[in-house]
Amino acid sequence: MSAPLNLKDHLHHPTFALIGSISDTEGLETYVIGGFVRDLLMYRKKEHYDIDIVTVGSGIALAKKVAGAINPKLKVTVYKNFGTAMFRNMDVDFEFVGTRKESYRLDSHKPIVEGGTLEDDQNRRDFTMNTLAICLNKGRFGDVIDPFDGLGDLEGKLIRTPLNPDITFSDDPLRMMRAIRFASQLNFRIENDTFAAITKQADRINILSKERVTEELNKIILSDKPSIGFKLLETCGLLKIILPEIQNLKGRESVNGIYHKDNFYHTLEVLDRISQNTDNLWLRWSALLHDVAKPVTKRFSPALGWTFHAHNFVGEKMVPKLFNRLKLPLNEKMKFVQKLVLLHMRPIVLSEEEVTDSAVRRLLFDAGDDIEDLMTLCEADITSKNEEKVTRFLANFQLVREKLKEIEEKDAVRNFQPPVTGELIMEIFGLQPCKEIGLIKSAIKEAILDGEIHNNYEDAYHYMMGKGKELGLTPVKKDNG
Ligand code: CTP
Repeated sequence: MSAPLNLKDHLHHPTFALIGSISDTEGLETYVIGGFVRDLLMYRKKEHYDIDIVTVGSGIALAKKVAGAINPKLKVTVYKNFGTAMFRNMDVDFEFVGTRKESYRLDSHKPIVEGGTLEDDQNRRDFTMNTLAICLNKGRFGDVIDPFDGLGDLEGKLIRTPLNPDITFSDDPLRMMRAIRFASQLNFRIENDTFAAITKQADRINILSKERVTEELNKIILSDKPSIGFKLLETCGLLKIILPEIQNLKGRESVNGIYHKDNFYHTLEVLDRISQNTDNLWLRWSALLHDVAKPVTKRFSPALGWTFHAHNFVGEKMVPKLFNRLKLPLNEKMKFVQKLVLLHMRPIVLSEEEVTDSAVRRLLFDAGDDIEDLMTLCEADITSKNEEKVTRFLANFQLVREKLKEIEEKDAVRNFQPPVTGELIMEIFGLQPCKEIGLIKSAIKEAILDGEIHNNYEDAYHYMMGKGKELGLTPVKKDNG
């Protein structure tokens, strides 16, 4: 047998050697395993490192010993139910666990069965690339233990389960999502039998908590090319269970030989395109959902062909239900997604016509501070194969952007505050709360957006006086401010 690969030169963190020497003293075999080893071998840099340590014995006892040797005051967090313990040293989290015969699962209600060998433990992990272990004991420090050819799979960019995939996925169905998430994040292929098992067991996703599934879904959305993950989710049947609204976008119907475009592939193209320009999860969600109401608003008429009338309005209304079901936040993040879905066609319409000041002012007013993100979404939405058309659209967008800047500098409507307050209107005309106040306020706003008056106090004051007169109101007080 050839000598194992040795990675001792990559284990710089002093905690590794310390874990090794304490393990030697305690007579334990200890390894670093899982994602850290995988990412190390792939030269993948991360902002934050979680390092999994596995020992043939008690993980909790070893964690306490190592932490005590670093600093007797170092806090160790123990999760008794999971048989794990962790501490943070020099910005890195170290999580300790004893080797186990049972599957590695986070939300198991069953007791943890420890006492297995390293190989028992590696057997029950999700993918061969995640079973790779590096020994920390002094004599073998840095040796890679790889019984399932995880190194070969990393080299071949292959996601494969160490055991029969039916067993690995039934141990923890979240691994179906993880397989697709890794495929999307790392641009790896899922091995055929592994993928067939996902297709067979897709329904079992329902036994998991929504939060865990959504966490993986978000990681897919945040990968460099999310379409990889979404195409796999669709092919194996998971998409129709977790996101039927996106599944429904798939397909091209035809009437009299006239087809509409496939909105599933269009959406994925928009998502991939936007992902080149932003890492904002919620902007990416907006791209995923921008056309979500197309299937329910779809009509065909001989005169107009295919239309998706008001799909932006209907889409905006669909977002809360979807967010609620997926346990996504129902706060300003959701409102942002709703707003972008609602407004996603506005800059395009604008750039198709002559770009008038008042249309730009209205867009600024409606989009507020999200105008940049809206423009990013719209630019990503141009997926035409006709290059001439794309160039024209993008040039028009450039014009819209310039106009937006110019108008905002002049009229500051982006965060519109009424230049004349309701209180002042009441005071000047001696009114109690009544509908005329709202009428005057909204007339002033419209006049500003239409460019009839400037967005300042003087113009608004004069306009208010005229409007009051029109409504038959008499001033009881003159402004002295
Ligand atoms: N693991 C598993 N089954 C799961 C979750 C995790 O077998 N459902 C094992 C894998 O060996 C994995 C390790 O536990 O490598 C650590 O899991 P986790 O920290 O969730 O993932 P990483 O692989 O580290 O990847 P990432 O940090 O990208 O989530």
